[in-house]
Amino acid sequence: MNLRVTAAAHPNLALVKYWGNADESLNIPVNSSLSVNLSAARTTTSVVFVPGQRRDEVTIDGHAARGEAYDRVVRHLDRVRRLAGINHRAVVESDNDFPASAGIASSASAFAALSLAASKAAGLSLDERQLSILARKGSGSACRSVPGGFVEWVAGSGDDSSYGRQVAPPSHWDLGITTVILDERPKVVSSAEGHRAARTSPFYQARLKTLPQTLEVVRQALLARDFRALGQAVEREAVSMHVVTMTSYLEEHPWLSGIYYWQPETCALIHAVQAWRRQGLEVYFTIDAGHNVHLLCQDECRAELEWQLDQVLPGPGGKYLVSRPGRGVWIVEAQERKAP
Ligand code: PMV
Repeated sequence: MNLRVTAAAHPNLALVKYWGNADESLNIPVNSSLSVNLSAARTTTSVVFVPGQRRDEVTIDGHAARGEAYDRVVRHLDRVRRLAGINHRAVVESDNDFPASAGIASSASAFAALSLAASKAAGLSLDERQLSILARKGSGSACRSVPGGFVEWVAGSGDDSSYGRQVAPPSHWDLGITTVILDERPKVVSSAEGHRAARTSPFYQARLKTLPQTLEVVRQALLARDFRALGQAVEREAVSMHVVTMTSYLEEHPWLSGIYYWQPETCALIHAVQAWRRQGLEVYFTIDAGHNVHLLCQDECRAELEWQLDQVLPGPGGKYLVSRPGRGVWIVEAQERKAP
C-alpha cells in the first residue's frame, strides 16, 4: 500500500459505434464496435490507497468531484478493492487536457486510466484483457482505450468475454483524425441514457442487422489501408447511429421527442464536408454522442482541410485537435507516498 500510481490514457473515437446495452449493470453491449485511440487528447490519473482514511477523495480537473461523478469513481474503486481484497479508501486526482462531455469520450480515457492506476496502486497486476474488462464496467467504451491503436470491442456474451482487443497497432496507419470542437458545453442527454433509449427507435433492429457487415467492411478497409472504403463505411455508420438516437425517447424525459446530439454547427459542417468532397477534397466525418465532429483525412489533404476549416469555423483559426492513432493506457509513474 502507499504506492501512488499515475496512469494516462487517450480517449477513443468509434469508427463502428456502440449503442445499446444487453446488460446495463455490466455495460455488456448489444453489438461489437471498433475504434481508434486519439493521440491529441489524454486523461492523467493518480491513485493512492491510504490506510485509515475515512472516505475516498476524488479531484477532477482541479475540483472536488460531487454527485454522480464522485459516486461513479467510488463504485469503480470498490470493484478494484473487491478484486484486491482491500478496504482502504483512496485519493484520486484526474486531469483531462480536453473538454469533457462534448462528444470526445472523456469517460473512456478516464476509466481506462483509473483502472490501471487503481489496480496497480492496490497491488494487482492485471493483463490487458482483465484491465479492459475492468475499465468496461466503469464506462463501456473505456475498454477500447486499454489496448493501443485500432481496437475492436468484442461484444461477448458475459462479463469475461466482453473486452477490447487490438486489431492493428498505431504504427499500422498514420491516419489523421481532426476533432473539431464546435461547442464546449456538455451534452444534455448522457450516453448512458442514450443507450437505454436506443431500443425505442423503430430503426434500432434495422441498424443491428447491418452492423456485422459494417464491422467487417471497416476492419478490412483498415487492414488494407483503403481510405475511401473506410471513410464511406464510417460516415454511413455514424449517421445510422444518430438516426437511432433521433428516433428514440425516454419515458423519464417526456419533453424529449428524440435525442438530437447534433447542433446547427454540426449540420453545417456535415454539409461542408460533402461539398469539399464534391470538389475533390477526400475527407470523411464521424460523430459520437455529442455535437463535435471528427474528420478523417490523409496527409496529402491536411493543408487543404485546415485552410477550409479556417474559413468555416468561428474565431481566429477555429478550434480543433489533430490526432494520430494513439497508444494504449500506460503508467506515467509509481512512487512510494511519504507518510504525512
Ligand atoms: O461508453 P459510453 O457509454 O460513453 O458510450 C459511448 C457511445 C458512443 O461514443 C456514441 C459510441 C462509441 O462506441 O463510443
